[in-house]
Amino acid sequence: MHLISIDDLSAADIENLFSLSDGFLEIASRSIKKVPSLRGRTIINVFLEASTRTQSSFELAGKRLSADVINIKGSSSSVSKGESLKDTILTLESYRPDVLVMRHPQVGASRMATRYTSASVINAGDGTGEHPTQCLLDLYSLRRVYGRLDGLKVAIVGDVLRSRVARSDLFGFRKMGIDVRLVGPPTLMPPGIEYWDVPVYNDLDALEDVDVIYLLRMQLERAKGKVPPVPSLREYSRVWGLSQYRVKPGQRVMHPGPINRGVELSGDLADDERSLILHQVESGLAVRMAILLTAVAPAAEEATG
Ligand code: NCD
Repeated sequence: MHLISIDDLSAADIENLFSLSDGFLEIASRSIKKVPSLRGRTIINVFLEASTRTQSSFELAGKRLSADVINIKGSSSSVSKGESLKDTILTLESYRPDVLVMRHPQVGASRMATRYTSASVINAGDGTGEHPTQCLLDLYSLRRVYGRLDGLKVAIVGDVLRSRVARSDLFGFRKMGIDVRLVGPPTLMPPGIEYWDVPVYNDLDALEDVDVIYLLRMQLERAKGKVPPVPSLREYSRVWGLSQYRVKPGQRVMHPGPINRGVELSGDLADDERSLILHQVESGLAVRMAILLTAVAPAAEEATG
């Protein structure tokens, strides 16, 4: 089973992953946090773009399932010597891995990798394409906090244009019955957004009646030399940045990380009890254990015991 896009999963598949994640969350609270479910299996994490959360989460998830885990990282890999993605994957295929977790700066890289490996490929972020495991951990955090997903109202705010998280979250959230809107300046909305069939607002007033405000980082490193879509980060933060005062008492704030304190949100809001940012990271480990287990052994529900 590959996981390239959030659309590879049905609502029932997502619920099954969450049942497994519940077991792994409980295991994470024990003093010994390891289970033998993937003993003897091989997981290769290929991270050809910067990452803290996603990489550490997948590495720890594989180790806690007792798999053999190796990590290939961008600047220290042979990609920096000019090796093509095809040759990197073919080389790693010689080890007969069970799972290949891949992050790459180009859209479609994970899908391409499926052509050269018999392992299950998991997309851990492909350029501005998709980030399905982020969507799953976000959904799982929401389910833990609210006890339900159907009927929640979520605003995704900021740099939608370059955000793979926004893409996966929008499609995955709607699949689970969440009412989603996008909020931000028109220059940060992708061309053709009208075909996504989602309400778009260019004003923070659109946050008034939502349960959750999902903030995105300004991803300037993905702009690659083009004219910046906002005049300056300072102006962006003055108009669109959120502080404690702009968030209503019952509302929750989410962010995939890494956060830029003082840009999309103030430092005090990041540390506020309404922020779920670290809760998301905790959810991510349990969800990725469930994803890895399902990728190797689709009917292995009992293996969490
Ligand atoms: C996101 C990513 O890499 O797409 N971060 C993450 O995986 N936690 C979001 C971002 O880079 O802003």
